[in-house]
Amino acid sequence: MSQTLTLTLRRPDDMHLHLRDGAMLEAVLPESARHFGRAIIMPNLVPPVVTAQEAAAYRDRIRAALPEGMAFEPLMTLYLTEDTDPADVAAAHASGLVRAVKLYPAGATTNSQSGVRDFDKVRGVLEKMAGIGLTLCVHGEVTDPAVDIFDREAVFIDRVLDPVRRATPGLRVVMEHVTTKEGVAYARSGGDGLAATITTHHLIINRNHILAGGIRPHYYCLPVAKREVHRLALREAAVSGEARFFLGTDSAPHPDHLKEHPCGCAGCFTATNTLSILGHVFEEEGALDRLEAFTSLNGAAFYGLPPAETTVTLEKRAEPCAYPAKIETGAGTVTVFDPGFPLYWAVREG
Ligand code: NCD
Ligand code: ZN
Repeated sequence: MSQTLTLTLRRPDDMHLHLRDGAMLEAVLPESARHFGRAIIMPNLVPPVVTAQEAAAYRDRIRAALPEGMAFEPLMTLYLTEDTDPADVAAAHASGLVRAVKLYPAGATTNSQSGVRDFDKVRGVLEKMAGIGLTLCVHGEVTDPAVDIFDREAVFIDRVLDPVRRATPGLRVVMEHVTTKEGVAYARSGGDGLAATITTHHLIINRNHILAGGIRPHYYCLPVAKREVHRLALREAAVSGEARFFLGTDSAPHPDHLKEHPCGCAGCFTATNTLSILGHVFEEEGALDRLEAFTSLNGAAFYGLPPAETTVTLEKRAEPCAYPAKIETGAGTVTVFDPGFPLYWAVREG
């Protein structure tokens, strides 16, 4: 009789997560808390989470939305604007309230209108952050309409990220949701103050999945998935075990009526089935022994957090797992990311 293949990991952390607010928060929070112990919470609410006071209030709403019996620690971030006060950021860091500041170039993605246009205007905040060791999480895409959307990440590295890092020695940076081989290579060019998150969906889809044989709005996210060569570079980085690469799902729920729309929203909702998908990917790459580094160790180490004390166990089943295709929320139905193949790695309950 064959033995069940199992894999026990320290409880994973999701180092890039959109929980939203209100009815959507209530519905999607358990989807993450079921498998993840902590997450870096993105601040792109409407209006955004800019001040320490707003971050504390949002943290409290997240805690209040957590169902009885579930343990989950939201790691809060502040949304960087051209008016952000360095002293407020420093106080939010000193009190342990925030773990990072998020940089959105204005107009780059969902709810980024209040982001940064003129990088000189945030010099003071970035210098303060470098001094106190607070991490900058970067949405790395230029917004110049003259730059092709598939080139926006690579161009951002040359035009913005590299100059900002050179001008601010010691600034800790996470390149969020890298989608290109250029992003992977740049992450590798830095020291231990530079890291990159990789999403679940960018390990699965390339741009053909979005556009070939019919347009698939549920595969549309930002940064948009690129050519296959880039997906392969991301897989190689994710399974490498290198400390600089870790999971940030970028699970980003939008109601179906805003995804299936003439101007559909960007975002893939992967919180529900991420661990099953990653089990599949890491097994395919012959790297199951490095899954824990990607999901549970590298991110925590970068953020100076102890690894989780509890564990989750994945087991490979003979029959595919039954995940819902959609979840119902008080803000509309949300489609769960469909990897396009059956998932046999299940997270053992209890
Ligand atoms: C995110 C969202 O919906 O908030 N969308 C996405 O496609 N990833 C924003 C972001 O992280 O870019
Ligand atoms: Zn995101």
